[in-house]
Amino acid sequence: MSVAKLIVGNWKMNGLLDDSRARARTLGSAVSALKDSGFDMVLCPPATMINAVADVLAGSPVRHGGQDCHTEASGAFTGNISAGMLKDLGCTHVIVGHSERRQHHAETSALVAAKAAAAHAAGLIAIVCIGETDAERSEGRADAVVSAQLAESLPPSATAENTAIAYEPVWAIGTGKTASADDIKHMHALIRTKASEKVKNGAWLKLLYGGSVKAGNAGEILHLPNVDGVLVGGASLAAEDFLSIAKASVG
Ligand code: PGA
Repeated sequence: MSVAKLIVGNWKMNGLLDDSRARARTLGSAVSALKDSGFDMVLCPPATMINAVADVLAGSPVRHGGQDCHTEASGAFTGNISAGMLKDLGCTHVIVGHSERRQHHAETSALVAAKAAAAHAAGLIAIVCIGETDAERSEGRADAVVSAQLAESLPPSATAENTAIAYEPVWAIGTGKTASADDIKHMHALIRTKASEKVKNGAWLKLLYGGSVKAGNAGEILHLPNVDGVLVGGASLAAEDFLSIAKASVG
């Protein structure tokens, strides 16, 4: 299995067609020019832009994914998008259980597990997000919260091949605050142990860190033990910054 780090850009609800195409084009050509870049890059644009981004990325090693999917394959679910529809647009990955979905759409870990299962059934790699809030950390409950979310958000279909786990402390997302190297090492070791109990070949499962990753801190984070990649929000909206983050994963 690939040891290349997984560098995922979560564009959230940002951009329109023109700037999204331009960003994808810059990244696609830059990564193509590297020949063997040594990292795997995935861009997750808003759903309306996936098709356009896919067109621009065609022929480049950069892949694309969705930011969410429904638990069902089809049906009367106005406004939702199924995993199969993402697959149909050439997506390879889908983010599920992002803390913004858990918070603003009241998504539970059980729902997240059902979404991950739907992603697997459609042939997508599910990027399952977990992470504690500021209050939970100050109450000394970070390990317990993350362990419980992990146990409840992984469906029985999860394998090291079809699943990645993103540890994203909620207090670090979009705040400019990053978890310390010691905190990341501690939490990723805990996640590795717990995930290995649940998932076959858990040692190969990709564990990503997310939360205010930028060009200046990516190198240190990406070289910590048990960090197999990063999930990047804000800094993935600037092609040069995102490319610097990806390049920091090698060498
Ligand atoms: P951020 O977001 O990099 O802007 O903190 C990360 C995420 O939400 O995935």
